[in-house]
Amino acid sequence: MHRKPRSIVGIDIGTTKVVTLIAEERGETLELCGVGHVPSQGLKKGMVVDIEKASHALRQSISRAEEMAGVRVEGAWASVGGSHIRVQPYKTALSLGGRAVLREDISQVVDVAQEILLDEGREVLHVLPKGFWIDGHGGILNPLGMIGMQLELDATVVTAQMGPLRNIQRLLESAGVEPLGLVLQPLASAEAVLTQEEKDLGVVLVDIGGGTSDVMVYADGAPRYVGVVGLGGAHITRDIAAAFKIGLQEAERLKREYGCTSERFLKEAENQEEIELVLAYDKDRRPVRIEKLCLVVEARVHEILELVQREIGKGGVDQGQYSELVLCGGSSVLRGFKEAASEVFGLPSRIGIPAYRLKGPFELVAKPGFATGVGLLAYARLNGDQAPEAKAPLGWIARVKQLLKEVRKLWGRTD
Ligand SMILES: Nc1ncnc2c1ncn2[C@@H]1O[C@H](COP(=O)(O)OP(=O)(O)OP(=O)(O)O)[C@@H](O)[C@H]1O
Ligand SMILES: [Mg+2]
Repeated sequence: MHRKPRSIVGIDIGTTKVVTLIAEERGETLELCGVGHVPSQGLKKGMVVDIEKASHALRQSISRAEEMAGVRVEGAWASVGGSHIRVQPYKTALSLGGRAVLREDISQVVDVAQEILLDEGREVLHVLPKGFWIDGHGGILNPLGMIGMQLELDATVVTAQMGPLRNIQRLLESAGVEPLGLVLQPLASAEAVLTQEEKDLGVVLVDIGGGTSDVMVYADGAPRYVGVVGLGGAHITRDIAAAFKIGLQEAERLKREYGCTSERFLKEAENQEEIELVLAYDKDRRPVRIEKLCLVVEARVHEILELVQREIGKGGVDQGQYSELVLCGGSSVLRGFKEAASEVFGLPSRIGIPAYRLKGPFELVAKPGFATGVGLLAYARLNGDQAPEAKAPLGWIARVKQLLKEVRKLWGRTD
């Protein structure tokens, strides 16, 4: 009998845009068949502040993707961001008494990590295993069958405030979509743009969006730290508007057309060039030197990068643990951002374009701003044989299931 291909839907609810991607599973690959990309409304710094407005944008985004794919979206995986996200290292232990590790031991030790004591109003969003220890020996990715006295799980626990999580769920429900799972934005982006080799060698991923810049650090193949800096491209736009006394729309245009993090990256002809900008108050036109625009952009970009550096330091991650920076998000394409990042961190950097293999019109999403959306599809595919009843994505059972899959992912590795 011919089975209908399974549809996977990822919705990235960002401060600037809402992106719905619909893909169909075809054997080993995913085929992109629907893309809905609309400006976001009702969000601030990655969090819902007006559910009605946000719902309007979400519905538009979903129906565009539905029209293109010719299917109806019933359930979806969605992204979560915002500065309410926290991480903490966590270790749990289980006595083995000298016998070999069984599958149940692994389930049990990871179950305990779900029971972590949290401040009121916070929930566990992800438990990301870093590895296992047996009798003080670490770096074990698959402890199954190994003998010892004590098995320990070393994990990074990502927690979030309950309110913003529930708001995202309500938002999806208001658009008639069942939330199948919520995924931290930079975790999804990492699925789309980072290679396993980069994760093994140590890498910092920075997703510079509109309202926030999300940071994710990997070392020895596992997530080490997640952080959020409450500044993004919208702040650069606002700075330009304030500096030249122009409206936000005009500032956005200048940023995209001429913005650059240093005059060193300008083409020679541009150095002396004057551009016309439309003044906000009387719609008059006034010339301004591109160099001046660069100074404004440079100051904010350096502030963002320094805060990212500080955020990583707060997480106790040593500089020696990572050797590269990967930038994604809509603002990463700003001229000179990559070079500025290399200078501030003293490390090589690259722009992360989604590399997850999708068939179909992939060019529509092969841009750094679509890293989270594409990553959601990849994440859902790995974690997503969810039962239809998986209605409470943050519930205990769904979380344990999700966690076991994360562990299985580690088992599946050959090294
Ligand atoms: N060509 C460009 N040059 C400079 N900035 C750009 C360019 N294109 C987009 N941007 C900026 O990228 C930002 C939007 O990025 P992105 O689409 O990743 O945001 P988002 O995911 O909606 O927001 P967030 O992740 O912060 O919630 C905006 O501030 C926009 O001005
Ligand atoms: Mg984003």
